Amino acid sequence: MNLLHGKDILDISTLTREEITLIFQTADTMKRRLRQKAKKSTYLKGKAIINLFCEPSTRTRTSFELAGKYLGADVINFTTSASSVLKGESFRDTLLTLQAMHCDALVLRHPVEGSARWAAAQLAPVVINAGDGAHAHPTQALLDLFTLREKGIELKGRKMVIVGDILHSRVARSNIALWSKYGADIHVCGPATLLPRHAEQLGVTVHARLEDALKEASVINVLRIQLERQQKGMFPSAREYARLFGINEERMKLARPDAVILHPGPLNRGLEIAWQTSYGKQAAILQQVENGVAVRMALLALTLQGETNNENFD
Ligand code: CP
Repeated sequence: MNLLHGKDILDISTLTREEITLIFQTADTMKRRLRQKAKKSTYLKGKAIINLFCEPSTRTRTSFELAGKYLGADVINFTTSASSVLKGESFRDTLLTLQAMHCDALVLRHPVEGSARWAAAQLAPVVINAGDGAHAHPTQALLDLFTLREKGIELKGRKMVIVGDILHSRVARSNIALWSKYGADIHVCGPATLLPRHAEQLGVTVHARLEDALKEASVINVLRIQLERQQKGMFPSAREYARLFGINEERMKLARPDAVILHPGPLNRGLEIAWQTSYGKQAAILQQVENGVAVRMALLALTLQGETNNENFD
């Protein structure tokens, strides 16, 4: 029986380093598979996965759908805007209804912090948190670290910078939690209005000036400005934001020459990152997307099947 069999993936704090190593070893195998002509296996044949997304998504939802399908599972996409939620059905009744249909896993994105943990406490199927409000996005953090691992970046003592809207970012919280487990030197930078109060309590160094944050950085995790979660007026204008906090070629000269740029997507090109930089050789953005499928295949395989011989996912 593997370590993760039957385990809910709710946030980074619930994962041990041993479990993360297993996820990455399995994702290595999945990525090799993904690049073969014949991607599909029957490994999760007979398993049913429901993607329950109460917020928009391109990368996370599509990659979970493909991950499940490549492994032979049946995958249903449930979108609240086309469901009985619009007739007033509660979140709890929706969950219990889907459970009664014998799904094996529920992949949940929801705007409320703690919703994945709450759902997991009600339900027998495996619950995977695909983003809950500003709280956590554990699968994004895992695919980000998997990408850095492929780039040969060891985290211990490395300067890792997260830039932008830290306040609303579940990606920032999950990456801080994950990078802390490996002894990284974590820095954050953004407008004062987009930093959490007492941000230092997250175990990070806080910078007001991007130039200070970028000096000798090995990793720059650029966050999307989440216009949908902000009240107006959290920064003067898009132009001003790009001038003070936008990542561009000139600023990248302050970081290490081999620094890697991560961005969870979707991108506001020209706002948090310059067009040229977003397509440049230091940006790992599409590698992150590809790895999202591999890491999510690994998570589904490990949580839904007890017997995982790493070389035999047929
Ligand atoms: N990174 C991320 O969560 O993207 P989506 O919102 O498109 O899923």
